Amino acid sequence: SNRTFTMIKPDAMKNGHAGAILDRIIKEGYRIVALKQTKLSAEKAGEFYAVHSARPFYGELVEFMSSGIIIAAILEKENAVASFRTLIGATDPAKADEGTIRKMYATSLGENAVHGSDSDENAEIEGSFFFSGLEKF
Ligand code: GTP
Ligand code: MG
Repeated sequence: SNRTFTMIKPDAMKNGHAGAILDRIIKEGYRIVALKQTKLSAEKAGEFYAVHSARPFYGELVEFMSSGIIIAAILEKENAVASFRTLIGATDPAKADEGTIRKMYATSLGENAVHGSDSDENAEIEGSFFFSGLEKF
């Protein structure tokens, strides 16, 4: 597929990086298919990250992702899932390559500035979690 799903997480929002991150995404050639600013309840964050519910950091992750405003977006570019994960860099910003979004804007392993879908299937599921069919043109 040529679509992926991203969120700008509460740390990057609070630290004032949303504009720079969106600018970078656009400059890297992604078309913004759909975009919204919202806030996840703990229940909704738990549902979004249900795949991680058995992990020791799940409670912390849910608390963090529901702690503030986020931006959610569907992005379109050739090979979107893989290319976007390269652009954002490793989960732990300390291990992320120079110039990646997480290296530049993330706070820590837990508060790592951005989300990027890890498969075409999850990109579709995650995009549909936030956006209706009418919004995905
Ligand atoms: P996402 O794009 O957010 O899905 O990140 P990822 O695919 O690089 O990592 P993964 O799906 O394995 O983990 C999801 C999120 O859980 C990460 O982005 C982190 O925010 C958080 N996370 C992962 N490992 C840890 C950890 O050891 N401690 C804490 N506090 N959070 C973690
Ligand atoms: Mg992931």
